[in-house]
Amino acid sequence: MAPLSETIQKYTVPWLQGDWPVDWPQVFGQAGDLVLEIGFGNGRFLADMAAARSKVCFVGIERAWGSIRRLLKRIDARELKNVRALEGDAAFLLRHLFAPQSLSEVWINFSDPWPKERHHNRRLIRDAFAAVLGERLKVGGEVTIATDHADYAAWIADVLARQSLLQSVYETPFVHELPGRVPTKYEQRAIDAGLPIHYFAWRRDVALSVETRIQKVGDMPNVILEGEYKRGDIQSLVARMAGRVWRETHRDIWAVIKVLESYRQLDDGHGLIAVMVREGELAQYFGISIVFRRRDQLLIKLSSIGQPRPTWGVKLAVMKVADVILEAQPSLRVASRTVGNWGDG
Ligand SMILES: C[S@@+](CC[C@H](N)C(=O)[O-])C[C@H]1O[C@@H](n2cnc3c(N)ncnc32)[C@H](O)[C@@H]1O
Repeated sequence: MAPLSETIQKYTVPWLQGDWPVDWPQVFGQAGDLVLEIGFGNGRFLADMAAARSKVCFVGIERAWGSIRRLLKRIDARELKNVRALEGDAAFLLRHLFAPQSLSEVWINFSDPWPKERHHNRRLIRDAFAAVLGERLKVGGEVTIATDHADYAAWIADVLARQSLLQSVYETPFVHELPGRVPTKYEQRAIDAGLPIHYFAWRRDVALSVETRIQKVGDMPNVILEGEYKRGDIQSLVARMAGRVWRETHRDIWAVIKVLESYRQLDDGHGLIAVMVREGELAQYFGISIVFRRRDQLLIKLSSIGQPRPTWGVKLAVMKVADVILEAQPSLRVASRTVGNWGDG
């Protein structure tokens, strides 16, 4: 069996680094129907589908790293060439990485039901998700959703009834049996416990065209400050930044920027701060370096830690750090900055 690092490179897609939506025919080296499974758990259902249909391209989304590892093991052992895994939040990845009308099938098996009412907002299948799901499916494409949780099933039926692109394949919103189906791990557990399962099969039948917004990877942001400063003053300023939080909106998406830790790098005395930026469903953790370039020049840039995608929130974080330094050191001024492309990401 190949080492984990090799299977990661072979079967996962480093989606933070590339343009969105992903060019799937290029990733797979073939143009074929594209099928997505969301929350694939132990990966057996996905690997079995891929083994049975070698001309079809399968993508699985999971946010649990252990599940990704289990899938990679399976597809490597079976030498499947037509499966790729994406690590992250399904709602976010479906919206950004898949073009409208690009998916032939979507499978959502036993999505976490979040039974407590105060946790209902964590449920994956919600109005905004269902709207994106409908748009990403091709006309004639189908989503199959299975759950053993009666309350979540009623919730899903309501969500699907409210969207406008998908229709139930059956006369009812769901059925209790799907012929020919091989149960997933959670499905088998429910069957063994004698719980009824609710299968939703909904097909897209409306050809509403939605514009694709291509999101190129932008330049890495940096700011150069010039003027007189004392290195010690800046270092203690940087050390006090831990815990700072900024909140702003951009295109109706909330961004939260939080400084987690700040360090004085030991080897050269430069500053380093660890930052978390959350924009909607995307959270990125990375470092911002404060580099003392000359006696009268400071460079604020992304460090090599974390390799974030330079989204609006990431650029804003670099600007905020520069602003804090500018406020405290009025003798400094901005000599140059590459954070201008706010439209990207
Ligand atoms: C209850 S398990 C079901 C696993 C498998 N589909 C089965 O039927 O055996 C739900 C799975 O979905 C994943 N998951 C839940 N919410 C997710 C999200 N928003 N994005 C990606 N994966 C998610 C979880 O990590 C977990 O592996």
